[in-house]
Amino acid sequence: MPAQPSPRIGVFDSGIGGLSVARALRLQMPGAAISYLADARHTPWGDRPVAWVRQRCLQLASWLIDDGADLVVLACNTGTTQAIAALRTRWPGTPFVGVEPGIKPAVTASRIGRVAVMATTGTLRSARLQQLVQAHAGSVTVLQLPCPGLADAIEAAGASPAALEAQLDRVAEAVRALQADTVVLGCTHYPLVAPALQQRLGEGVVLIDTADAVARQAASLLGASACRTQAAGHLRFASTGNPSALQQAAQRWLQADASVLALALPDPA
Ligand code: DGL
Repeated sequence: MPAQPSPRIGVFDSGIGGLSVARALRLQMPGAAISYLADARHTPWGDRPVAWVRQRCLQLASWLIDDGADLVVLACNTGTTQAIAALRTRWPGTPFVGVEPGIKPAVTASRIGRVAVMATTGTLRSARLQQLVQAHAGSVTVLQLPCPGLADAIEAAGASPAALEAQLDRVAEAVRALQADTVVLGCTHYPLVAPALQQRLGEGVVLIDTADAVARQAASLLGASACRTQAAGHLRFASTGNPSALQQAAQRWLQADASVLALALPDPA
């Protein structure tokens, strides 16, 4: 029987954060080909207007679909809350998977009934987050922990490690002040620094990352064949900004040596 071609998964984020999701996709479906697109020209998206983020997500998804994606993962909480519905309406035949803050697993994990949600301003003020809290919080107190600047500091970690350390100290201090025992990593950049955050908070605090659940959902949408082959799938990278930043991040987080296409897209109106 001829071998089935590997499915191609398109993954995009404002920057390198979606690599935390790509890592989970690789573990779940080693044989899948992945095209990763970072909007480095415009990162971060966290404080941008909703209409701008929506338009940018439509542009980036369009490029990935033209590039042959069988399924697209919007590997960004900010983008998902603001644009996933528009993507599904625009391409009804393409499966889309978004990333949302893990309120439900956090509520289950908290022993003392106090959960902190680390996220960008855009995610925290979204109607979708309020819906998730209303649907799942029950008697658990869900506290907002805005982290402006943290995604940026993670992007710039190679050049300014001290700035990132300072941000992480500030976040750990804020979690302690909120007296939460469970912390939702509500931005795909944050799992990249989860070990450093865990070290500051201690093992008593549970960090919730939804990347594995996202990867399982993508695998189920693509069907069992996506998981069957163990031969490593081909990785492709593209960036609307400095390609070498994404190249270094891909090496660091995915152990992938790949060239990065420099992509010129028009800016959203
Ligand atoms: N990685 C993105 C997220 O999951 C956002 C960071 C940003 O662009 O502000 O929300």
